Amino acid sequence: MSMESAHSSNPWEVPVRDQILTAFLAAKEHRVSGAQLSRQLGLTRAAIWKQIHSLEQLGFQFSAATRRGYQLERVPDLLLGPILRQHLPEQVRFGRTVVWQQEVDSTNVLALRLAQQGAPHGTLVNALVQTGGRGRRGRRWVSPSGGLWMSLILRQSLPLAVAHELTLVTSVAVYRAIQKQAAFPLSIKWPNDILCDGRKVCGILAEIRSDGESVDYAVLGIGINTNVQPGDLPTDLNTKAVSLAAYCGKPISHVDLAADILTELEPMYNRLVAGQSAFSQVADEWRAHSATLGRRVEVTVGHNTYRGLAEWLDDDGVLQLRLDDGARLPIHSGEVLWAEGESHP
Ligand code: BTN
Repeated sequence: MSMESAHSSNPWEVPVRDQILTAFLAAKEHRVSGAQLSRQLGLTRAAIWKQIHSLEQLGFQFSAATRRGYQLERVPDLLLGPILRQHLPEQVRFGRTVVWQQEVDSTNVLALRLAQQGAPHGTLVNALVQTGGRGRRGRRWVSPSGGLWMSLILRQSLPLAVAHELTLVTSVAVYRAIQKQAAFPLSIKWPNDILCDGRKVCGILAEIRSDGESVDYAVLGIGINTNVQPGDLPTDLNTKAVSLAAYCGKPISHVDLAADILTELEPMYNRLVAGQSAFSQVADEWRAHSATLGRRVEVTVGHNTYRGLAEWLDDDGVLQLRLDDGARLPIHSGEVLWAEGESHP
Protein backbone atom coordinates (compact mmCIF):
# COMPACT_ATOMS: atom_id res chain seq x y z
CA MET A 1 0.00 0.00 0.00
CA SER A 2 1.35 3.45 -0.82
CA MET A 3 1.78 6.18 1.78
CA GLU A 4 -1.23 7.99 0.33
CA SER A 5 -3.60 5.05 0.15
CA ALA A 6 -3.69 4.68 3.94
CA HIS A 7 -5.35 8.11 4.11
CA SER A 8 -9.05 8.50 3.55
CA SER A 9 -10.54 10.60 0.80
CA ASN A 10 -14.25 10.14 1.56
CA PRO A 11 -15.56 10.78 5.06
CA TRP A 12 -16.97 7.24 5.15
CA GLU A 13 -13.73 5.53 4.19
CA VAL A 14 -11.91 3.78 7.00
CA PRO A 15 -9.70 6.36 8.77
CA VAL A 16 -6.09 5.44 9.57
CA ARG A 17 -6.98 5.42 13.27
CA ASP A 18 -9.48 2.61 12.62
CA GLN A 19 -7.04 0.69 10.41
CA ILE A 20 -4.58 0.67 13.31
CA LEU A 21 -7.30 -0.30 15.74
CA THR A 22 -8.34 -3.18 13.46
CA ALA A 23 -4.75 -4.47 13.51
CA PHE A 24 -4.66 -4.37 17.32
CA LEU A 25 -8.04 -6.06 17.71
CA ALA A 26 -6.99 -8.80 15.27
CA ALA A 27 -3.76 -9.37 17.22
CA LYS A 28 -5.85 -10.00 20.37
CA GLU A 29 -3.47 -10.52 23.29
CA HIS A 30 -0.37 -10.40 21.10
CA ARG A 31 1.94 -7.45 20.69
CA VAL A 32 2.01 -5.44 17.47
CA SER A 33 5.23 -3.75 16.53
CA GLY A 34 5.43 -0.23 15.16
CA ALA A 35 7.54 -1.56 12.28
CA GLN A 36 4.90 -4.12 11.38
CA LEU A 37 2.13 -1.48 11.39
CA SER A 38 4.29 0.88 9.43
CA ARG A 39 4.85 -1.75 6.72
CA GLN A 40 1.22 -2.90 6.71
CA LEU A 41 -0.30 0.59 6.45
CA GLY A 42 2.42 2.37 4.52
CA LEU A 43 2.86 5.01 7.22
CA THR A 44 5.91 6.37 8.99
CA ARG A 45 6.62 5.23 12.55
CA ALA A 46 5.94 8.80 13.72
CA ALA A 47 2.51 8.74 12.05
CA ILE A 48 1.71 5.41 13.73
CA TRP A 49 2.76 6.75 17.10
CA LYS A 50 0.56 9.83 16.61
CA GLN A 51 -2.47 7.61 15.90
CA ILE A 52 -1.77 5.43 18.94
CA HIS A 53 -1.59 8.58 21.02
CA SER A 54 -4.92 9.79 19.64
CA LEU A 55 -6.46 6.38 20.51
CA GLU A 56 -5.10 6.78 24.06
CA GLN A 57 -6.82 10.13 24.30
CA LEU A 58 -10.09 8.40 23.47
CA GLY A 59 -9.63 5.99 26.39
CA PHE A 60 -7.74 3.09 24.78
CA GLN A 61 -4.87 1.76 26.85
CA PHE A 62 -1.73 0.18 25.41
CA SER A 63 1.26 -1.35 27.09
CA ALA A 64 4.57 -0.88 25.32
CA ALA A 65 7.67 -3.08 25.56
CA THR A 66 10.96 -2.03 24.00
CA ARG A 67 11.49 -3.68 20.60
CA ARG A 68 8.41 -5.89 21.10
CA GLY A 69 5.79 -3.32 20.26
CA TYR A 70 2.43 -2.40 21.75
CA GLN A 71 -0.38 -4.45 23.19
CA LEU A 72 -3.96 -3.22 23.45
CA GLU A 73 -5.02 -3.51 27.10
CA ARG A 74 -8.30 -1.62 27.32
CA VAL A 75 -11.04 -0.86 24.80
CA PRO A 76 -13.52 1.91 25.71
CA ASP A 77 -17.23 1.74 24.91
CA LEU A 78 -17.02 3.75 21.68
CA LEU A 79 -18.94 3.12 18.48
CA LEU A 80 -15.87 3.05 16.26
CA GLY A 81 -16.22 0.83 13.19
CA PRO A 82 -13.73 -1.90 14.21
CA ILE A 83 -15.33 -2.25 17.66
CA LEU A 84 -18.92 -2.29 16.43
CA ARG A 85 -18.07 -4.90 13.77
CA GLN A 86 -16.90 -7.29 16.49
CA HIS A 87 -20.37 -7.13 18.06
CA LEU A 88 -22.42 -7.57 14.90
CA PRO A 89 -23.57 -11.03 13.84
CA GLU A 90 -22.02 -12.01 10.52
CA GLN A 91 -25.26 -11.72 8.52
CA VAL A 92 -25.90 -8.09 9.56
CA ARG A 93 -24.94 -5.52 6.90
CA PHE A 94 -26.01 -2.38 8.81
CA GLY A 95 -23.14 -0.66 10.63
CA ARG A 96 -20.34 -2.09 8.46
CA THR A 97 -19.34 1.49 7.67
CA VAL A 98 -19.16 3.88 10.61
CA VAL A 99 -18.51 7.61 10.61
CA TRP A 100 -17.62 8.60 14.16
CA GLN A 101 -17.19 12.12 15.48
CA GLN A 102 -16.53 13.51 18.93
CA GLU A 103 -18.90 16.40 18.29
CA VAL A 104 -21.23 17.28 15.48
CA ASP A 105 -24.19 19.61 15.02
CA SER A 106 -26.55 16.72 14.28
CA THR A 107 -25.80 13.15 13.19
CA ASN A 108 -28.92 13.34 10.99
CA VAL A 109 -27.65 16.45 9.22
CA LEU A 110 -24.23 14.86 8.68
CA ALA A 111 -25.80 11.57 7.54
CA LEU A 112 -28.04 13.38 5.04
CA ARG A 113 -25.00 15.15 3.64
CA LEU A 114 -23.04 11.89 3.40
CA ALA A 115 -25.99 10.10 1.80
CA GLN A 116 -26.15 12.81 -0.82
CA GLN A 117 -22.43 12.35 -1.46
CA GLY A 118 -22.92 8.61 -1.99
CA ALA A 119 -22.15 7.00 1.40
CA PRO A 120 -23.00 3.29 1.28
CA HIS A 121 -26.25 1.74 2.45
CA GLY A 122 -26.11 0.89 6.14
CA THR A 123 -23.55 3.57 7.06
CA LEU A 124 -23.88 4.52 10.72
CA VAL A 125 -23.06 8.04 11.87
CA ASN A 126 -22.35 8.49 15.57
CA ALA A 127 -21.20 11.38 17.72
CA LEU A 128 -20.47 11.72 21.43
CA VAL A 129 -22.14 15.13 21.56
CA GLN A 130 -24.57 16.94 19.26
CA THR A 131 -24.64 20.72 19.43
CA GLY A 132 -27.73 21.06 17.24
CA GLY A 133 -29.59 17.78 17.74
CA ARG A 134 -32.86 17.70 15.78
CA GLY A 135 -36.15 16.45 17.18
CA ARG A 136 -39.49 15.88 15.55
CA ARG A 137 -41.56 18.84 14.37
CA GLY A 138 -38.52 21.12 14.25
CA ARG A 139 -37.83 20.79 17.97
CA ARG A 140 -34.36 20.85 19.49
CA TRP A 141 -32.98 17.55 20.82
CA VAL A 142 -30.66 18.11 23.78
CA SER A 143 -27.67 15.80 23.26
CA PRO A 144 -24.95 16.07 25.91
CA SER A 145 -22.21 13.47 26.30
CA GLY A 146 -23.33 10.14 27.73
CA GLY A 147 -26.22 9.61 25.30
CA LEU A 148 -26.34 7.39 22.24
CA TRP A 149 -26.88 9.70 19.26
CA MET A 150 -26.74 7.89 15.95
CA SER A 151 -28.13 7.99 12.42
CA LEU A 152 -28.38 5.16 9.92
CA ILE A 153 -28.26 5.74 6.16
CA LEU A 154 -30.74 3.57 4.27
CA ARG A 155 -30.63 3.70 0.54
CA GLN A 156 -32.66 0.85 -0.80
CA SER A 157 -35.74 1.85 -2.69
CA LEU A 158 -38.94 1.72 -0.67
CA PRO A 159 -42.51 2.74 -1.61
CA LEU A 160 -43.30 6.07 0.05
CA ALA A 161 -46.60 4.57 1.22
CA VAL A 162 -44.80 2.30 3.72
CA ALA A 163 -42.22 4.85 4.89
CA HIS A 164 -44.14 5.53 8.11
CA GLU A 165 -43.64 1.85 9.04
CA LEU A 166 -39.91 2.52 9.20
CA THR A 167 -40.13 4.49 12.43
CA LEU A 168 -42.68 2.11 13.92
CA VAL A 169 -40.51 -0.96 13.37
CA THR A 170 -37.50 1.01 14.63
CA SER A 171 -39.31 1.65 17.90
CA VAL A 172 -39.83 -2.11 18.26
CA ALA A 173 -36.15 -2.80 17.46
CA VAL A 174 -35.03 -0.22 20.05
CA TYR A 175 -37.52 -1.54 22.60
CA ARG A 176 -36.17 -5.08 22.24
CA ALA A 177 -32.54 -3.95 22.35
CA ILE A 178 -32.99 -1.86 25.51
CA GLN A 179 -34.92 -4.68 27.14
CA LYS A 180 -31.94 -6.99 26.51
CA GLN A 181 -29.78 -4.72 28.69
CA ALA A 182 -31.96 -4.90 31.81
CA ALA A 183 -35.59 -5.33 32.84
CA PHE A 184 -36.73 -1.73 32.36
CA PRO A 185 -40.44 -0.77 32.64
CA LEU A 186 -40.56 0.34 29.00
CA SER A 187 -43.50 1.37 26.87
CA ILE A 188 -43.92 2.76 23.35
CA LYS A 189 -45.76 6.02 22.78
CA TRP A 190 -47.20 6.38 19.28
CA PRO A 191 -45.66 6.85 16.87
CA ASN A 192 -42.17 6.11 18.11
CA ASP A 193 -41.10 7.35 21.53
CA ILE A 194 -39.79 4.87 24.06
CA LEU A 195 -40.68 5.66 27.65
CA CYS A 196 -39.12 4.22 30.80
CA ASP A 197 -41.48 4.38 33.75
CA GLY A 198 -43.44 7.02 31.81
CA ARG A 199 -40.46 9.25 31.02
CA LYS A 200 -38.89 9.55 27.59
CA VAL A 201 -35.65 7.63 26.99
CA CYS A 202 -35.62 7.45 23.21
CA GLY A 203 -36.75 9.52 20.25
CA ILE A 204 -36.63 8.55 16.59
CA LEU A 205 -36.47 10.93 13.65
CA ALA A 206 -36.64 9.58 10.10
CA GLU A 207 -35.77 12.07 7.37
CA ILE A 208 -36.59 10.93 3.89
CA ARG A 209 -35.58 12.09 0.43
CA SER A 210 -38.06 10.97 -2.17
CA ASP A 211 -38.94 11.41 -5.82
CA GLY A 212 -42.62 11.55 -4.82
CA GLU A 213 -43.38 7.85 -5.14
CA SER A 214 -40.54 6.00 -3.55
CA VAL A 215 -37.93 6.68 -0.93
CA ASP A 216 -34.65 7.62 -2.56
CA TYR A 217 -32.73 7.44 0.69
CA ALA A 218 -33.64 7.75 4.33
CA VAL A 219 -31.74 8.75 7.41
CA LEU A 220 -32.99 7.13 10.55
CA GLY A 221 -31.94 9.11 13.61
CA ILE A 222 -32.09 7.40 16.98
CA GLY A 223 -31.41 9.26 20.22
CA ILE A 224 -31.27 7.28 23.44
CA ASN A 225 -30.75 8.76 26.85
CA THR A 226 -28.42 6.00 28.02
CA ASN A 227 -25.81 7.37 30.40
CA VAL A 228 -26.57 11.11 30.48
CA GLN A 229 -26.12 12.57 33.98
CA PRO A 230 -29.39 14.11 35.23
CA GLY A 231 -27.51 17.37 35.86
CA ASP A 232 -26.57 17.55 32.17
CA LEU A 233 -30.21 17.89 31.08
CA PRO A 234 -32.10 21.19 31.33
CA THR A 235 -34.24 21.17 34.50
CA ASP A 236 -37.53 21.21 32.59
CA LEU A 237 -36.49 18.01 30.81
CA ASN A 238 -35.65 16.17 34.01
CA THR A 239 -39.32 15.61 34.80
CA LYS A 240 -40.08 14.37 31.27
CA ALA A 241 -36.93 12.41 30.47
CA VAL A 242 -34.80 9.90 32.31
CA SER A 243 -31.57 8.13 31.53
CA LEU A 244 -31.45 4.35 31.51
CA ALA A 245 -28.32 4.40 33.69
CA ALA A 246 -29.99 6.65 36.26
CA TYR A 247 -32.93 4.27 36.31
CA CYS A 248 -31.02 1.00 36.70
CA GLY A 249 -27.90 2.28 38.47
CA LYS A 250 -25.38 0.88 35.98
CA PRO A 251 -23.90 2.24 32.74
CA ILE A 252 -25.37 1.00 29.46
CA SER A 253 -22.96 -0.26 26.80
CA HIS A 254 -23.38 1.78 23.62
CA VAL A 255 -21.65 -0.83 21.50
CA ASP A 256 -23.92 -3.66 22.72
CA LEU A 257 -27.04 -1.53 22.45
CA ALA A 258 -26.26 -0.22 18.96
CA ALA A 259 -25.33 -3.70 17.70
CA ASP A 260 -28.60 -5.12 19.05
CA ILE A 261 -30.67 -2.33 17.50
CA LEU A 262 -29.08 -2.86 14.07
CA THR A 263 -29.48 -6.63 14.36
CA GLU A 264 -33.18 -6.34 15.27
CA LEU A 265 -33.91 -3.66 12.68
CA GLU A 266 -32.27 -5.06 9.56
CA PRO A 267 -34.65 -7.97 8.88
CA MET A 268 -37.68 -5.71 9.40
CA TYR A 269 -36.26 -3.13 6.99
CA ASN A 270 -35.55 -5.88 4.46
CA ARG A 271 -39.20 -6.91 4.58
CA LEU A 272 -40.25 -3.35 3.72
CA VAL A 273 -37.80 -3.27 0.84
CA ALA A 274 -39.17 -6.59 -0.42
CA GLY A 275 -42.63 -4.99 -0.55
CA GLN A 276 -43.91 -6.93 2.45
CA SER A 277 -45.52 -5.33 5.46
CA ALA A 278 -43.00 -5.26 8.27
CA PHE A 279 -45.07 -3.67 10.99
CA SER A 280 -47.85 -6.28 10.81
CA GLN A 281 -45.28 -8.87 11.93
CA VAL A 282 -44.59 -6.99 15.15
CA ALA A 283 -47.86 -5.10 15.63
CA ASP A 284 -49.03 -7.38 18.46
CA GLU A 285 -45.76 -6.75 20.28
CA TRP A 286 -46.11 -2.99 19.74
CA ARG A 287 -49.70 -3.04 21.00
CA ALA A 288 -48.78 -5.13 24.05
CA HIS A 289 -46.24 -2.48 25.12
CA SER A 290 -48.18 0.58 24.01
CA ALA A 291 -48.42 3.61 26.29
CA THR A 292 -51.00 5.14 23.97
CA LEU A 293 -53.80 2.66 23.33
CA GLY A 294 -56.82 2.91 25.61
CA ARG A 295 -55.92 6.45 26.66
CA ARG A 296 -57.51 9.81 26.01
CA VAL A 297 -55.12 11.70 23.82
CA GLU A 298 -54.71 14.91 21.93
CA VAL A 299 -53.24 14.35 18.49
CA THR A 300 -51.68 17.13 16.44
CA VAL A 301 -51.67 16.60 12.69
CA GLY A 302 -50.20 19.55 10.82
CA HIS A 303 -52.04 22.57 12.22
CA ASN A 304 -55.03 20.57 13.47
CA THR A 305 -55.51 19.06 16.91
CA TYR A 306 -57.94 16.23 17.62
CA ARG A 307 -59.03 14.90 21.02
CA GLY A 308 -60.35 11.46 21.67
CA LEU A 309 -59.66 7.89 22.72
CA ALA A 310 -56.69 6.11 21.11
CA GLU A 311 -58.65 2.93 20.35
CA TRP A 312 -56.42 0.79 18.19
CA LEU A 313 -53.32 0.67 16.02
CA ASP A 314 -53.90 -1.15 12.73
CA ASP A 315 -51.48 -3.71 11.33
CA ASP A 316 -50.31 -1.06 8.87
CA GLY A 317 -49.50 1.39 11.67
CA VAL A 318 -52.54 3.67 11.42
CA LEU A 319 -53.84 4.97 14.76
CA GLN A 320 -57.62 4.77 15.14
CA LEU A 321 -58.89 7.67 17.20
CA ARG A 322 -62.47 7.71 18.57
CA LEU A 323 -63.35 11.39 18.59
CA ASP A 324 -65.48 12.93 21.31
CA ASP A 325 -68.46 13.13 18.89
CA GLY A 326 -68.24 9.35 18.34
CA ALA A 327 -66.68 9.46 14.87
CA ARG A 328 -63.61 7.36 14.12
CA LEU A 329 -60.58 9.14 12.69
CA PRO A 330 -57.64 7.22 11.19
CA ILE A 331 -54.33 9.01 11.88
CA HIS A 332 -51.40 8.13 9.65
CA SER A 333 -48.85 10.39 11.25
CA GLY A 334 -48.91 13.00 13.94
CA GLU A 335 -47.90 13.86 17.44
CA VAL A 336 -49.67 12.52 20.52
CA LEU A 337 -50.02 14.60 23.64
CA TRP A 338 -51.78 13.20 26.67
CA ALA A 339 -55.18 14.76 27.16
CA GLU A 340 -55.75 17.14 30.06
CA GLY A 341 -56.45 15.51 33.39
CA GLU A 342 -54.51 12.41 32.41
CA SER A 343 -51.18 11.79 34.01
CA HIS A 344 -48.36 10.13 32.11
CA PRO A 345 -48.58 6.35 32.16
C1 BTN B 1 -37.89 13.19 18.80
O1 BTN B 1 -38.21 14.38 18.72
O2 BTN B 1 -38.43 12.43 19.61
C2 BTN B 1 -36.85 12.61 17.86
C3 BTN B 1 -35.47 12.82 18.39
C4 BTN B 1 -34.40 12.21 17.53
C5 BTN B 1 -33.02 12.51 18.06
C6 BTN B 1 -31.95 11.79 17.30
S1 BTN B 1 -30.39 11.86 18.10
C7 BTN B 1 -29.60 11.23 16.69
C8 BTN B 1 -30.24 11.90 15.50
N1 BTN B 1 -29.64 13.18 15.23
C9 BTN B 1 -30.48 14.20 15.40
O3 BTN B 1 -30.19 15.40 15.22
N2 BTN B 1 -31.66 13.74 15.79
C10 BTN B 1 -31.69 12.30 15.88
